[in-house]
Amino acid sequence: MARSGKGNHVQYVWIPVIAALLAVPLGFMYVSWNKAGEGAGLYSRQWQPDAVFSYWNPGEFYRSVDTVQGVFSGEQCVQCHAAVTPGIVKDWRLSRHSTAAPGKKPVYCLSCHGDDHQDLHMPTPDVCAGCHAIQHSQFVDEKRYGFPSHALAMERAVDARHFVDKPKPEVTSCLQCHSVATKCDSCHTRHRFSAAEARRSEACITCHSGPPHPDDETFFASAHGKIYRQEGENWDWSKPLRKGNYKSPTCAYCHMAEGKHQVADKSIWKFGILEINPDTSANEVRRRAWIKVCSDCHEAGWSRDRLEELDTERKRAWRKLYEAEDLIKDLRSEELLYPAAGERPLYPVDVIEKLWPRERIGFYEGQASAFYNVSPIERDYFDMWYFDNLGAYKGAAHGAPNFVTAQHQKMDQALKSIKQQAKALRTAGEQERLYKERVDPSALWKQGEYTEYNKEHN
Ligand code: HEC
Ligand code: HEC
Ligand code: HEC
Ligand code: HEC
Ligand code: HEC
Ligand code: HEC
Ligand code: HEC
Ligand code: HEC
Repeated sequence: MARSGKGNHVQYVWIPVIAALLAVPLGFMYVSWNKAGEGAGLYSRQWQPDAVFSYWNPGEFYRSVDTVQGVFSGEQCVQCHAAVTPGIVKDWRLSRHSTAAPGKKPVYCLSCHGDDHQDLHMPTPDVCAGCHAIQHSQFVDEKRYGFPSHALAMERAVDARHFVDKPKPEVTSCLQCHSVATKCDSCHTRHRFSAAEARRSEACITCHSGPPHPDDETFFASAHGKIYRQEGENWDWSKPLRKGNYKSPTCAYCHMAEGKHQVADKSIWKFGILEINPDTSANEVRRRAWIKVCSDCHEAGWSRDRLEELDTERKRAWRKLYEAEDLIKDLRSEELLYPAAGERPLYPVDVIEKLWPRERIGFYEGQASAFYNVSPIERDYFDMWYFDNLGAYKGAAHGAPNFVTAQHQKMDQALKSIKQQAKALRTAGEQERLYKERVDPSALWKQGEYTEYNKEHN
């Protein structure tokens, strides 16, 4: 008995060992399969990079020019490029990189691009890290906080299903903004690399504007933005963003407090696309960090009250969103959504959906990726959630009360329209049942011009 028991035991020991031995190569296979296409990210097989991606995502796509031959010294690069790219050389001459401290050598072109002209590179953050380890490590540390963050922005864009679903001309611009992850010249632009430029709100709004993230619009509508616009020209921007140096805060003053290259650590409501509980202990730590920022200029208790107004606004918004979501879920369970899931075109990457077509409603069911192939009432809910709601959030976060009012009015209108449409769909459904007639719309949706075009052009 004892002997055979022991034999069994030895046999079972092999099961996890074999499983582990199999898991390792399977893991590698999965990763390399994902990376197998010409593009990058989860759906690399579904898209090909455009030429400009070699600059936006240089680590993945940059290939050196080979038209000029030779290995050059720093001075040689500058001399020839004064004729080839005079603007770049002029900016570089004005930058701290060329006007180094006494006794230190200038940081020449080759420190960032290499010295062999047939093996040039475009600098990724790792190249800057060689001399700016602190900023780089803070930046990379953002990954700990998950999405959204600057450090993860590129993955987030290329791993989004709508990135591979739409024709390339429509999505090419994604990477222009999401390249904040793959190069360091987003806020202090090349080749001045000026800290003063990055301190100003204009450094952020090239990317942080527009309906799903109206940071630009809400900041400039706030008391802070108004003061900045009126007086900012006369402030001394060579000073670091520290207590006492500025009368009113800019984006970086609040989000990169103390010059920390880290925008994700204080974030409570994040992008605003899902409801969270602001009262957890982790969020209380973040709230205190926010209050510390406000306290450079305001009284702490007053600041907490202002920030809690944001939570109140969020609760109000989510009550409206859930009401709309429930209505649409009811329609789904009564099979009243038209066209139904099986009658719409699939995303190119949807395998599960092919076997089990299902309308996805709300964030947790994956609507974040289902922007386009949806019925009108779902799209209206999407607009309410993604544009009206996110606008209201940023208005409340940035102290723009008029913006909050206007966005909530839009949410109310959207909710009203969703209710009307739900009613109309019910009436139409009853008619269909009565006369046993239903037009199958898949011919129109699945073979539409746009759908065909998408299949060919990505
Ligand atoms: C501190 C690092 C750094 C230094 C020094 C530097 N560059 Fe750059 N350079 C960059 C970055 C960052 C980019 C943008 C990379 C990208 O788009 O992927 C760039 C892009 C370029 C480009 C292509 C994009 C464009 O705007 O045309 C050229 C050409 C270029 N640099 C030339 C030079 C020359 C010439 C010098 C020396 C006078 C120089 N660089 C010095 C960091 C540097
Ligand atoms: C004899 C002139 C000459 C010298 C010296 C020279 N370059 Fe260039 N460089 C050029 C020309 C011409 C181009 C444009 C090549 C093209 O578009 O095919 C260029 C392009 C570049 C680009 C842009 C490449 C791209 O893909 O956009 C970078 C970066 C660059 N040079 C960096 C350097 C660096 C760094 C040095 C010094 C190690 C240097 N160059 C020395 C003439 C020169
Ligand atoms: C070879 C070293 C080296 C590399 C590589 C380098 N830098 Fe610098 N950087 C310097 C030096 C030196 C200064 C001058 C200030 C100092 O002493 O810290 C400086 C200053 C700066 C400043 C401050 C400018 C100001 O207005 O105060 C910024 C911003 C900056 N670098 C960004 C970058 C970025 C972005 C990259 C990568 C594309 C980069 N640097 C690559 C050495 C380097
Ligand atoms: C080149 C474009 C670009 C610039 C410039 C830029 N950002 Fe961003 N930022 C992004 C993108 C893209 C994301 C979202 C990343 C993702 O998808 O995860 C983001 C996310 C953020 C977040 C969200 C972090 C979170 O946890 O919710 C904050 C805060 C932020 N940026 C602040 C700033 C500030 C402040 C500036 C200016 C000093 C700035 N950004 C400049 C593109 C940019
Ligand atoms: C104008 C600049 C810009 C463009 C263009 C842009 N984005 Fe973004 N994106 C942002 C910013 C800024 C944020 C984060 C805003 C915030 O946190 O409030 C963001 C957020 C996101 C997020 C959500 C991040 C998260 O973790 O929740 C995804 C996914 C995303 N973008 C994908 C894309 C795709 C795909 C495209 C192209 C169809 C695109 N973006 C185009 C600037 C841009
Ligand atoms: C989201 C905008 C943003 C991005 C992206 C960004 N920076 Fe900065 N950077 C700033 C701001 C704002 C300052 C000024 C901080 C201050 O006043 O203390 C700054 C200042 C600097 C300085 C000067 C620091 C000093 O104390 O003089 C260096 C060096 C620097 N950044 C390097 C980098 C490097 C390396 C990267 C890429 C890993 C990077 N930055 C990406 C916004 C940015
Ligand atoms: C007075 C400080 C302050 C200023 C100035 C400011 N913000 Fe914010 N921002 C906040 C607060 C507070 C939140 C909400 C944080 C939370 O609770 O999640 C927020 C939210 C955000 C978010 C959503 C992600 C996050 O961290 O929660 C982004 C992105 C953002 N702001 C970008 C910007 C940009 C870009 C500017 C300038 C145009 C700017 N902010 C100006 C305080 C500020
Ligand atoms: C660098 C200084 C500074 C910082 C930091 C700062 N503020 Fe302000 N804030 C001001 C100034 C100046 C005014 C306009 C004068 C006033 O009303 O007190 C103002 C006005 C306001 C107003 C409008 C007040 C009213 O009565 O109309 C609100 C709300 C506000 N701040 C909230 C915040 C919050 C929340 C934070 C932190 C996330 C913050 N501020 C951080 C300087 C600052």
